[in-house]
Amino acid sequence: MQRPRYDPLSVPVPVVRSTSAWETLRSEALSCTRCPLARGRTQVVFGVGDPSADLMFVGEGPGREEDLAGEPFVGRSGQLLDRLLAEELGIDRSRCYIANVVKCRPPENRDPAPDEIEACRRYLEAQIDLVDPVVVVTLGNVAARLLLGTTAGIKALRGRAYPYRRGHLVPTYHPAFALRSGGQVVAEMRADLVRAKHLLGASPGPWTLRVESDSPAATRALAAGLAQVVRPGDLVLAVGGLGAGKTVFAQGFGEGLGARGPVTSPTFTLLRQYPCRSAGGVELFAHADLYRLDRLVEVVDLAIPELLAEGAVALVEWGDAGAPVLGDSALEVVLAPVPGQLDRRTLAVSGRGPAWSGRRAEVEAALGGSRSGTTR
Ligand code: URA
Repeated sequence: MQRPRYDPLSVPVPVVRSTSAWETLRSEALSCTRCPLARGRTQVVFGVGDPSADLMFVGEGPGREEDLAGEPFVGRSGQLLDRLLAEELGIDRSRCYIANVVKCRPPENRDPAPDEIEACRRYLEAQIDLVDPVVVVTLGNVAARLLLGTTAGIKALRGRAYPYRRGHLVPTYHPAFALRSGGQVVAEMRADLVRAKHLLGASPGPWTLRVESDSPAATRALAAGLAQVVRPGDLVLAVGGLGAGKTVFAQGFGEGLGARGPVTSPTFTLLRQYPCRSAGGVELFAHADLYRLDRLVEVVDLAIPELLAEGAVALVEWGDAGAPVLGDSALEVVLAPVPGQLDRRTLAVSGRGPAWSGRRAEVEAALGGSRSGTTR
């Protein structure tokens, strides 16, 4: 039977953001003298938080305390921001990314001048490229005007979301303005953050990370690493042509789950089950192989969604063939040989659907933590 054609070019653009791209950008910013603000700074305030967060905040520019600390929003404004993050989104600042339009403190906390904004915007644009957030929340006039390309004021702009890059932009007040203005403005800021939260929930991905493996042992180790982040009910699809390394991947994954008994290809049975004990509390590993699949109804007969509902984790080789009946939440791992390099493989790891939308960072950590693979 003909397998669905695998086309490496259809794999989405890699989004494991390379450490070196961040390092290059940061070191360029830290030594920047492109505008006069450089002369008055104590420190460049580059940005802080999760470099692959779904949520990013953009403020205006560092104040006195940020200039001294080298971190955005650490003064009174930052305390209000931290409080609203905790109360409205249930997160702390490590779960989002925070940056400013200008990275050096304007004297006397004045607004940054147009030429200063222009000189600095390359850093902010690159940060947004690298974080690639689903929702950007701008704080105050300067950030909203820059990113929306408008001269309108924040009062007119806030109260709704705007399409922005792959997701949305939610303009809200600057926390310093909210501190000066009091209750009503703080309440409106809260409403804006709730809007951002809903948009985050409504935008379930998908995201893709890419990692390279230079040997079957490295593929195994990457799979074992991924097994550390799966939870009961998770579905993993292994995709790729014959010899791409799906079975090695499945074996490493089973090892990572602590599966009892060697994981072997279930080609002639379509599905094998292994008791296991994983870091994530998984007690049953179901390993399916749809290579011999003739009709989709055979996948239905395997009752994989039922096993998942009972708390198993399922890994399905040739999983793309069964996708229509396996549900819309899955971690898909596409393995592809690197041309001309016998043992080298690219693994494109995509999370889609509600079960995986918010887990990019943990999957990225699991992949990046592997000593045998290299992320880029
Ligand atoms: N105000 C800003 O806009 N950014 C900061 O980092 C601090 C205060």
